[in-house]
Amino acid sequence: MPTDVFNLSGKVAVITGASARGGIGHTLALAFAQQGADIVVSDIDDAGVEATAAGIRTAGRATAAIHCDISNPADVEHLFLEVDHLFGRVDILINVPFAFPSRVRPHELSLDAWNRTLAVSLTGYFLCSQQAIRRMLNQATGGRILNISSIAGSSGMGRGNLPYSCAKAGVNQLTRELALEYARQGIRVNAIQPAQILTPGLKNQMAAMDPHMAQNMHDRFLSGIPLGRMLEPGDFIGAALLLCSDAGRAITGVLLPVDGGNLAMNAGGSILWPSD
Ligand SMILES: NC(=O)c1ccc[n+]([C@@H]2O[C@H](COP(=O)([O-])OP(=O)(O)OC[C@H]3O[C@@H](n4cnc5c(N)ncnc54)[C@H](O)[C@@H]3O)[C@@H](O)[C@H]2O)c1
Repeated sequence: MPTDVFNLSGKVAVITGASARGGIGHTLALAFAQQGADIVVSDIDDAGVEATAAGIRTAGRATAAIHCDISNPADVEHLFLEVDHLFGRVDILINVPFAFPSRVRPHELSLDAWNRTLAVSLTGYFLCSQQAIRRMLNQATGGRILNISSIAGSSGMGRGNLPYSCAKAGVNQLTRELALEYARQGIRVNAIQPAQILTPGLKNQMAAMDPHMAQNMHDRFLSGIPLGRMLEPGDFIGAALLLCSDAGRAITGVLLPVDGGNLAMNAGGSILWPSD
């Protein structure tokens, strides 16, 4: 096995939800460019995704920034037609966006909020995966799909995110089903399950809050992360490169927690010793 197993030279990646005002998508786009991939970035935030494309160009890779609401089938089709036109192939797809309705108890949740959350956070992943897989099958050179799921896909949260958790559980199963359906064609499909990340969005939200409330929220998140710190977008680079490069050539159908230990603790464990 060659030593540069993380090298992505010659690969074309499509990353959705990659605005520079976002967290994981932007960070992975720049990291994958550093590893040699050419990258089509898309988002509903046009200025933000242009900024990510500028960063990719600075890293010396080819790129295009394309508007795409992943819940809209016409947008998704347009995105991939642009990829065909500009790059002629797709080797890697990373599905990142999510919709999260205002926190609300399930008995008060509107059907619109339920539908919108699933349309972006689950159906959008299916639509993009379907377009990518059609091309990967035609290319006959395999492919890699990475879905950004959440600890909420495996663990109940009990704090007003029912449709989000259901969508992420669906993403987990989408990952497993697609992995099995296309394993023989060399298309590997995996997911990452993050715990709470200090993204630019969350930082802004906390900065705008009453400081006491912000501290309270921060402490509550931390109590679920045994490593003892909130995650950062950069924490996902290693896992994503593993799953999308030859380093992970035998890995498919995996739901990988990158969660500081959250899911390990959720079976009722506690990290509290009397001395802690
Ligand atoms: N931030 C966290 O604490 C956390 C925790 C667990 C899982 N996750 C998951 O990680 C992924 C990335 O989260 P993040 O915190 O980096 O998000 P973010 O909000 O920082 O970025 C998400 C990006 O998706 C874009 N987007 C939103 N709706 C879209 C749509 N319909 N079509 C296309 N793009 C759209 C946004 O404009 C934004 O650029 C999500 O799937 C999220 O569920 C995040």
